Amino acid sequence: MRVLVVGAGGREHALAWALRRSPRVEELFVAPGNAGTDSVAVNVPIKASDIDGLTEWARGNEIDLTVVGPESPLALGIADRFGEVGLPVFGPSREAARIETSKVFSKVFMQEEGIPTADFEVFQDFDKATAYLQKCPFPLVVKADGLAGGKGVSVCHVRQEAEDALQVIMEDRVFGDAGTRVVIEECLTGQEVSVLAFSDGQTVMPMVTSQDHKAAYDGDKGPNTGGMGCYAPMSLMTPELLDEIQRRVLQPAVDGLRLRGLPYVGVLYAGMILTPTGPQALEFNCRFGDPETQVILPLLRTDLADVLEACVEGRLHEMTLRWSKEASVCVVIASGGYPKNYRTGYPISGLDEVADLPDVQVFHAGTALKDGMIVTAGGRVLGVSAWGDTLTQAINRAYCAVGRIRFRDQHFRHDIGQKAFTEGVGM
Ligand code: AMP
Ligand code: GLY
Repeated sequence: MRVLVVGAGGREHALAWALRRSPRVEELFVAPGNAGTDSVAVNVPIKASDIDGLTEWARGNEIDLTVVGPESPLALGIADRFGEVGLPVFGPSREAARIETSKVFSKVFMQEEGIPTADFEVFQDFDKATAYLQKCPFPLVVKADGLAGGKGVSVCHVRQEAEDALQVIMEDRVFGDAGTRVVIEECLTGQEVSVLAFSDGQTVMPMVTSQDHKAAYDGDKGPNTGGMGCYAPMSLMTPELLDEIQRRVLQPAVDGLRLRGLPYVGVLYAGMILTPTGPQALEFNCRFGDPETQVILPLLRTDLADVLEACVEGRLHEMTLRWSKEASVCVVIASGGYPKNYRTGYPISGLDEVADLPDVQVFHAGTALKDGMIVTAGGRVLGVSAWGDTLTQAINRAYCAVGRIRFRDQHFRHDIGQKAFTEGVGM
């Protein structure tokens, strides 16, 4: 099988790493990839947003299966284009991807399907939205409709904060057309959990659950990021709770999309919050999570290529997913200043030292090769994953490796995985 992974981050390195272990994958390519994917696959210098370029390349190179990492190529219609020319692709169509790319679509869809989610209102008029704030209880949440690089959501504790958020989104148009409409919704409280599932459009099978740490600094302080680290399985998850999420969220979503003529092939990622009155869906994503993938795939015991192929061929029901009983963790090492301004191009040392550590795998996120050296090239630079019989063991292994890796201005959280002990049942 000749497989192409589209993207350039830690998630794509983890996908390539897992696919490399499949005896069925003869040739593996990543476009455009990074210095880490370069060691497990062949990097192809085509950007993830260059849909024409990728289509032409995949056709010319007789690719049997393409796996799309980020949401942006899906929003640009990569799955539709590949489908038109007969190239099998794991990832939803542009219309089905609206479950992530439009918060308005997603919220209205959840309401219509009876999927538990926070109460909300949609506005496209700034004055009406501002007036609505007068009669709302606080805190509440203001969300730009479209993709805003993870910055379009504001949890507002007082009215002024919400007015400011509306101003930024609707009037200043900081996120462009993504701010034509907004969702204003009830603020929920509870632990968050990422529930990712494989879907072939009919059958939907959840993966091991995980918990992201989105704030930049220890103790959940500081600005929101793409994710500073993760652990799996999520400590509060029980088979009963996962079954409830499957019945009330995942299956209705896949069924609802299919009934709207949008068969959903790919990863359906439900961002859930466990409230005192039960699980509620905060959002859907149309792809693997990052860094969730870096803790989930090390625990997968079924051949990933088989699972992805079964999804694309509409026979996921034939598969059984097998998971390790271990726990895993991923600590992200970022460039100082991330998620705001940061510098890149700094050499990274210590990677050789940790390469042979057992039960540890460093996934590259923002790295590049420069004059034969691996240098920093992004906000999130590396994801250090480790696993073990207990979460404590996994955490110790990960931080032991993190301690040996160095680059200028590096920054990481010291408390990844601790949520499991302080707020959950722990391991
Ligand atoms: P989203 O992009 O919708 O996942 O929002 C990003 C983050 O904002 C989530 O991971 C939550 O931490 C927070 N958030 C979003 N919606 C709500 C809500 N209704 N109540 C509380 N927190 C929320
Ligand atoms: N880690 C959050 C996400 O992938 O959206």
